[in-house]
Amino acid sequence: MKRVFSGVQPTGNIHIGNYLGALRQFVELQHENQCVYCIVDLHSITVPQDPKELRKHILDVAALYLAVGLDPEKSTVFVQSDVPGHAELSWILTCNSYTGELSRMTQFKDKSRGSESAPTGLFTYPVLMAADILLYDTDVVPVGNDQKQHIELCRDIAIRINNKYGKTFVVPEGRFLKEGARIMSLDDPSSKMSKSAENPLSRISLLDDEKTIKKAIMRATTDSEGAIYYDLENKPGISNLLNIYSSFSGMPVEDIVTRYEGRGYGDFKKDLVEVTVDALRPIRERFQEIRPSQELIHILRDGAEKAGNLSEKTMKRVKERFGLGVE
Ligand code: TYM
Repeated sequence: MKRVFSGVQPTGNIHIGNYLGALRQFVELQHENQCVYCIVDLHSITVPQDPKELRKHILDVAALYLAVGLDPEKSTVFVQSDVPGHAELSWILTCNSYTGELSRMTQFKDKSRGSESAPTGLFTYPVLMAADILLYDTDVVPVGNDQKQHIELCRDIAIRINNKYGKTFVVPEGRFLKEGARIMSLDDPSSKMSKSAENPLSRISLLDDEKTIKKAIMRATTDSEGAIYYDLENKPGISNLLNIYSSFSGMPVEDIVTRYEGRGYGDFKKDLVEVTVDALRPIRERFQEIRPSQELIHILRDGAEKAGNLSEKTMKRVKERFGLGVE
């Protein structure tokens, strides 16, 4: 059995990009692998958070994990800050990563925009992510395309330490889906769908109702050609909608293109609303049941205990290799 690890930040507005790029994979992988899924609250404080909202968002993501189909009997689900090994290993990896390689991370460049007052945590964010992954001897990391560079860095750090201190870490592989790996914003298909974009119609959140989903899709930016086919460069809007349609329906993009040959964008968008609403309805209904239950807290406590046990084994090995602490 392979070990799978991934995480989502508790920053609200979890959207269909998160679902189609990552969460859907989490569920698929839990049947054949040993899966560990985290709510990465330490990552979320790299930008300011309201403490009350943060606590709420942590439970929202936990409930969403279960609502999309994670089974706590099969997958370990927990909150990052409940397991001290993440921060501890992160420091050790920080001492083995270079300012040059961290400066090249596009996410840091985008978020800091060259500002001298960007939080240091934003800079070392990918090292904490590497610690999350390496702490569990992870083989496979299911994520969206935007995390590719971070996974590469994690691999580089693992290989570097293995070469210097002897085999310490499993070197993980990223796992990316074909259609869902990069869902773009609905109002501007040149940028990725994001939790923090100002325009709420740029995304479809997993808990949006039918009316909101309809509004966002019917207003989605397309082009003036009026023909439905996949061309990422010249038709990014329609190509993005085709990806979403394909991911939710399971129908290959080519078959969708054939189905809508000679038909207009209006027809296509109306059907896409239906496909999306049908896919998200059961998630929303399950979320409403799970979110208020005490059971959720028990699942997270239990998950933290299991994850804690796994992480302690790795930390013991790492400390030995580095000569830290006493025997
Ligand atoms: P986060 O919280 O931004 O996103 C969670 C997951 O959703 C994917 N994703 C997308 N996929 C397709 N299209 C999009 N528009 C889109 N937007 C987001 C992300 O790739 C991610 O898989 N750094 C991570 C969290 C993290 C992590 C980890 C992940 C921390 N430690 C260890 C894996 C392993 C992040 O900010 O994800």
